Amino acid sequence: MLLVTRDSVNLTMRDAAPTDAPAIRALLQSNALSDDAVSSQQVSHMVAQNRGEIIGVAALERHGPFGLLRSVAVTPSWRHQGVASALVNEIARKFGDLCALYLFTDTAERLFASLGFEVVPRDTLPADIANTSQALVTCPATALAMRREVASQQQPDAREDDRQMPGATTSMR
Ligand SMILES: CC(C)(COP(=O)(O)OP(=O)(O)OC[C@H]1O[C@@H](n2cnc3c(N)ncnc32)[C@H](O)[C@@H]1OP(=O)(O)O)[C@@H](O)C(=O)NCCC(=O)NCCS
Repeated sequence: MLLVTRDSVNLTMRDAAPTDAPAIRALLQSNALSDDAVSSQQVSHMVAQNRGEIIGVAALERHGPFGLLRSVAVTPSWRHQGVASALVNEIARKFGDLCALYLFTDTAERLFASLGFEVVPRDTLPADIANTSQALVTCPATALAMRREVASQQQPDAREDDRQMPGATTSMR
């Protein structure tokens, strides 16, 4: 999927391929995020790339009717241009059959709130999410749990070939 094209920029977003694993691991490790799910069959990764270089990643781990959003990272020089937002929205669109998406964060509450996620008390998490390694091991107890309905965020008239970041011709947001 083409997101932006201008001068030296040709930004696209797509499902990750097995050959992307090394680049995804490098991006996650450089952001101090766990890379333990990169090769997991249960986790779907989506990447943003510019001219062949992976500059952003987001992943979804399915747990029954719920999705756990994880591994959201963007290369520093590409931040604040809507890349993470586009990846998260595309994952939510792709997994539109789920009831809700959850995530844990101690760094990006404002970003996820802008994408429709709401902070929820940990003791309200469904067991499917509360028992994940993200909840039990990876994320500190201080990390916020956030939740977003999937169905209510769908854009009914969004066409398959027309998913761009708003204002994509001049700016990525
Ligand atoms: C968190 C992270 C993924 C965000 O990536 P990003 O691509 O910069 O995210 P976006 O551009 O979609 O949004 C980030 C901010 O830029 C703003 N923004 C987006 N496009 C913009 C533009 N064209 N001009 C100005 N601001 C813009 C958004 O409103 C948002 O603001 P806020 O976070 O201050 O509320 C990135 O900072 C990162 O990789 N951090 C390290 C890893 C990490 O903490 N991951 C989250 C784990 S839960």
